Amino acid sequence: MSTAKIELRGVTHDFVTGEGQLFRALDNVGFSVSPGRFISLIGPSGCGKSTIFNAIAGLQTPSAGSIIIDGREVTGMIGLVGYMLQKDLLFPWRTVLDNVVLGMEIRGVKVREAREYARPFLARYGLGGFEDQYPAALSGGMRQRAALLRTLLFDSEIILLDEPFGALDAQTRARMQEWLLQIWSDFGKTVIFVTHDVEEAVYLSDEIYVMAARPGRIRARLDVPLARPRPRHITLEPAFARMKERCLALLDEEALTRGDAPPLGAQAPSAEPALAIEPPPPSAQRLSTPGLAA
Ligand SMILES: Nc1ncnc2c1ncn2[C@@H]1O[C@H](COP(=O)(O)OP(=O)(O)O)[C@@H](O)[C@H]1O
Ligand SMILES: [Mg+2]
Repeated sequence: MSTAKIELRGVTHDFVTGEGQLFRALDNVGFSVSPGRFISLIGPSGCGKSTIFNAIAGLQTPSAGSIIIDGREVTGMIGLVGYMLQKDLLFPWRTVLDNVVLGMEIRGVKVREAREYARPFLARYGLGGFEDQYPAALSGGMRQRAALLRTLLFDSEIILLDEPFGALDAQTRARMQEWLLQIWSDFGKTVIFVTHDVEEAVYLSDEIYVMAARPGRIRARLDVPLARPRPRHITLEPAFARMKERCLALLDEEALTRGDAPPLGAQAPSAEPALAIEPPPPSAQRLSTPGLAA
């Protein structure tokens, strides 16, 4: 009997293209996440990260393979996980509080009870004073907090976050990452996180799955050997940099295999805070660093 919170076994998905051809978006994807762990999926655009999430959320039944939650096969079932997309999808006509309680309402909790339950969470997690405002009055970071809180209060033990901070500026993003770690440790959820940003993946995760494209598959699984809690300055430590390099090397190898990023010359690792990995502009193309990938 497996002790995994969630497990994917042999998940394969074929889309039918406009010309009626089969296009394999996912090939035999498998992984297993222990309860309360924070894992990230990183990989080039189109490698199937969102397709994995749609399969887990039951929005798209995979062509083959299974999704197992708490030891039970749940392939194709909806409503078992909290799922948040990059776009916050707050309803502009609902107040912040009423947006946050939406997931609970869907679960059948009475609005008044849901509001009472949610209010203290808004206060505790940086939305105090904004409960009765409309989303238009909020900054990008606060909107994402509201959307995340809504996802968390949906009362699922598994949360899928698909590039939730992708549209935020670097500083807001860093604050949101710290906030997410705080809320994750408070709530004890199992989180699967998708990001393009290697530094973000390393900072947040217990484990990172590096994906490859065409067809989408898991290329490597890396443990992140960094203690928690993680103060921001951990990003400056050698162990952090080594982890980042290993991820980048795997992604570079993948890009080179695909012919996306022909080497133009060796370049020092970028000092940018957010390391976007795709699509690489010609000036940002990097050579793989296999020596650091050991
Ligand atoms: N509904 C669809 N029909 C056909 N192809 C799709 C559909 N959805 C996604 N794809 C293709 O499947 C691949 C994986 O997509 P996706 O999971 O969105 O990738 P990612 O989230 O990693 O960027 C891409 O090549 C994409 O074009
Ligand atoms: Mg996607």
